[in-house]
Amino acid sequence: MSTLTAYLQRYPRLNAWFNRWWDWAGAVGVRTKILGIVLTLTIVLGLGVTWQVRLMMTYTLIAELEERGVSIASDLAARSVDPILLNDTFALYELLTEIQTNHNDVAYAFVVDPQGRVLAHTFEGGFPVELLTINSISGEDFPQQVRYMSNQGIMHDFVMPIFNGRSGFVRVGMNEERIQRVVNTVTGQMLLTTLLVALIGIAAATFLTWLLTRPILQLVETTRQVGQGNLNVRAARWANDEIGTLADAFNQMVDDLKASQQAIAEKEAARTRLLAQLINAQEEERRRIARELHDGVGQALTSIMVGVKLLGQTADGQTFAQKRAELRQVAEETLHSVRLLSRQLRPSVLDDLGLVAALERYAAEFATTYPNLTVDLHCHLPHRLDPPVEITLYRIVQEAMTNAARHSGATTLSVLLSTRDGRVQAIIEDNGRGFDPALARRAGNSVGLHSMTERAELLGGQVNIESGSDGTTVYVEIPQ
Ligand SMILES: Nc1ncnc2c1ncn2[C@@H]1O[C@H](COP(=O)(O)OP(=O)(O)O)[C@@H](O)[C@H]1O
Ligand SMILES: [Mg+2]
Repeated sequence: MSTLTAYLQRYPRLNAWFNRWWDWAGAVGVRTKILGIVLTLTIVLGLGVTWQVRLMMTYTLIAELEERGVSIASDLAARSVDPILLNDTFALYELLTEIQTNHNDVAYAFVVDPQGRVLAHTFEGGFPVELLTINSISGEDFPQQVRYMSNQGIMHDFVMPIFNGRSGFVRVGMNEERIQRVVNTVTGQMLLTTLLVALIGIAAATFLTWLLTRPILQLVETTRQVGQGNLNVRAARWANDEIGTLADAFNQMVDDLKASQQAIAEKEAARTRLLAQLINAQEEERRRIARELHDGVGQALTSIMVGVKLLGQTADGQTFAQKRAELRQVAEETLHSVRLLSRQLRPSVLDDLGLVAALERYAAEFATTYPNLTVDLHCHLPHRLDPPVEITLYRIVQEAMTNAARHSGATTLSVLLSTRDGRVQAIIEDNGRGFDPALARRAGNSVGLHSMTERAELLGGQVNIESGSDGTTVYVEIPQ
């Protein structure tokens, strides 16, 4: 089509015609197109063949008529010699009538003497004199033939000399009418056949269109339903042809669509759940901080305030020094727990010294919290990373480490950070009892696992968890 378009572009006039034709032909239905093709072909073929047969038949039959005319005329000329010499006009007349009766294409026959006077003829109601001028007897080449239009139809008139013209001439008129009749009958039969074939063609085309359009229309209906959101409908596969393949491809597409919609719905549900859990966790965290501040820091400060007040009333130097030391101790502890609290909320070392230092500090604290777990931390980061990447990796590693400590029952935990091909990679490996990550995610309360993945995906990275009976390995990859 494109080559055709390119070709047509060079001839604007032709192009305009083609476009107008295509506007018209392209707008009609498939049924009309197929019917149009079948009917056009049948009619063109039928008419063409009929026309050709008609031409050939007319040509052959007329040639044959002429041959017969010549042979009848010569036969008549030979047989006329005797009656003419004997001057037997009646015999001559009988001969002429016999010829006319025996050959049904012979319309008339007559004999003239060398001067052109009619000796005998077959005309019943008198001889039409104008016939004498139609063909000439004065020529040199015989037989001489003339084709003319008479009131009986097209005639072929033959002149044949008798005895080289010395005894006169024979004239025979052959009528084309029978030939025309035969040709017309054959033409009529062929046209009838064409009509019949066209009718069969219409029936066949209608059936074919029905066969072709039924699956297409069904496919269109199915597409419409899918468009309206019904993903349970499928296109039927009617036959093993291209339309069947199309139906298969369509069904595959709907399957994929359904699968991806399910995946989206699952993700959406997980996200909603996660959000609710995050909000919960946040509230929980606030409650914990509030409690910590109230019970820990608040109590400590109250006791400091009371201590300071008592200190003002103490006169004894030794007691004073002891109380002051106690107060100092309480203040130090309070400071420590405020620092711890603030570090847990957001490690300032992450901003000041970077991921490696923050992780090292976290690992050290981790080791004191979980003394039964040996932590092995290796960081190979050539430079500091973007703040979002650092905090993300910090949170993910923190979660993976806490999970290992809380759920796996592992004795060793190794954390490895490195860069590769423009990506930061973190591998957190424990030798615990392992678990089924897919199952844990589906369980619905895996805030930690989901938030690890979410955090990584937010930065275009990913988290993969491999777990078996000999431990769990969490692979994290984030673009730098
Ligand atoms: N390293 C691990 N070893 C064994 N089980 C684990 C490990 N990490 C996670 N799990 C399992 O996956 C579940 C989901 O983990 P997570 O989403 O972090 O939630 P949470 O830690 O709050 O229980 C855990 O309850 C635990 O059963
Ligand atoms: Mg967890």
